[in-house]
Amino acid sequence: MSSKRICVYHIDDPAVNELGPYKVAGNPSGREELRTTLGAEEIAVLLIDIDQGDAFDAIVEALEIRPALAVIGVTGTNDVNKVIRAQRAGCRQITSKPLDENDLLLAIRKSLNEASGSSEAPPWGKTLSVIGTSGGAGATTLACYLAMSLSDSTKSSVSIIDLDLEFGTVAKSWDLTPRFTVADLAHIDVIEEQHIEDYFLELPSGISVLPRPEQIDQAQSIDETIIRNVITSTKSLFPYLVMDLPRKLDAITGCAIEECDKLILVAQLTVPGILNAARLTEGLVRFGVPIEKLEFVVNRYNKKFQNIDIKALEEKVGKKVIGVVPNHYKSLSLANDLGEPVSEKNPIRKAISEIATKLCGRQNAEAQSGSWISSLGFGKSS
Ligand SMILES: Nc1ncnc2c1ncn2[C@@H]1O[C@H](COP(=O)(O)OP(=O)(O)OP(=O)(O)O)[C@@H](O)[C@H]1O
Ligand SMILES: [Mg+2]
Repeated sequence: MSSKRICVYHIDDPAVNELGPYKVAGNPSGREELRTTLGAEEIAVLLIDIDQGDAFDAIVEALEIRPALAVIGVTGTNDVNKVIRAQRAGCRQITSKPLDENDLLLAIRKSLNEASGSSEAPPWGKTLSVIGTSGGAGATTLACYLAMSLSDSTKSSVSIIDLDLEFGTVAKSWDLTPRFTVADLAHIDVIEEQHIEDYFLELPSGISVLPRPEQIDQAQSIDETIIRNVITSTKSLFPYLVMDLPRKLDAITGCAIEECDKLILVAQLTVPGILNAARLTEGLVRFGVPIEKLEFVVNRYNKKFQNIDIKALEEKVGKKVIGVVPNHYKSLSLANDLGEPVSEKNPIRKAISEIATKLCGRQNAEAQSGSWISSLGFGKSS
């Protein structure tokens, strides 16, 4: 296979001469020359200094010329707003000055994977991770009702994994007493279809649940390699996977974030809730999670008693919220005590159902769900 070609724009750093299998095929000094290079050469990657005045316009223009181009931004600042702008303009990776060869190579590989992955991803493949921005924000509630909404609206098999390995409550939402948990699946090197069928607990509604370990200390023997194995196997067998994440940024959470299509951050409109949402967003973006991957949900919204506006959250995180779930403590706590979901008419359920449709569509999934799911033998019987 011929080596991938890189175009370097406004970067004068010796590290760009040491890019192993990648070849620098152009180092234009201005926009016109950049256009010519992109038009004439088979460029796969654009490495661009986003601290330069025309960088964002140049990225947009470059992507118009080569839509599959993997763009990597280079910056010498810690300015999160700039990183968000760069991602919105089309940067797939950001790396910092002075350039480090290994870091740069990693950014190139990742940007190329994302570039090809996004065009080849099956349209029905939806993996959602949910994380709370403060304790009790409602992440588990959202994760469980999202799974129910997806199951209802798409008539597809939906799986849910409780990755809050120490304190997870997903199984309790349906009052389940599981025979197996993620700790059992963790012992298996090559996870096959039969294992998933055996270890996930399938509810009559078509949702298959993999609960957190039975004992709290079992969580310590589970690492990200095991979790990646569990996630990738589950993804290959279910059209929809929802993961309820703990509120900590460790390797397991990182793995779930990498493997999902969307990471949903659940926030309440309180001062700590908003500040934590902004802090988490800033950290995730700095770790290289594209802002497009993040979605924000306001939970426990009560217009009468709300001192803080939804806009305040949107301004802090730099993105519009995808949905607002009303506060309905009485019905939800009764449902939790009974281990039953609230009724389909409940405003919480309606709001989450709309969020599910925005995240995954409806038509798409219905159109795709029939053939391959039934061939697996553990979809709904209809
Ligand atoms: N929209 C809502 N209206 C009323 N109560 C809610 C709502 N959403 C969640 N709750 C309640 O808030 C509590 C915390 O919810 P949940 O367990 O989903 O949050 P969490 O973010 O997963 O918490 P943790 O940080 O412990 O993982 C629960 O008692 C739940 O019933
Ligand atoms: Mg939780």
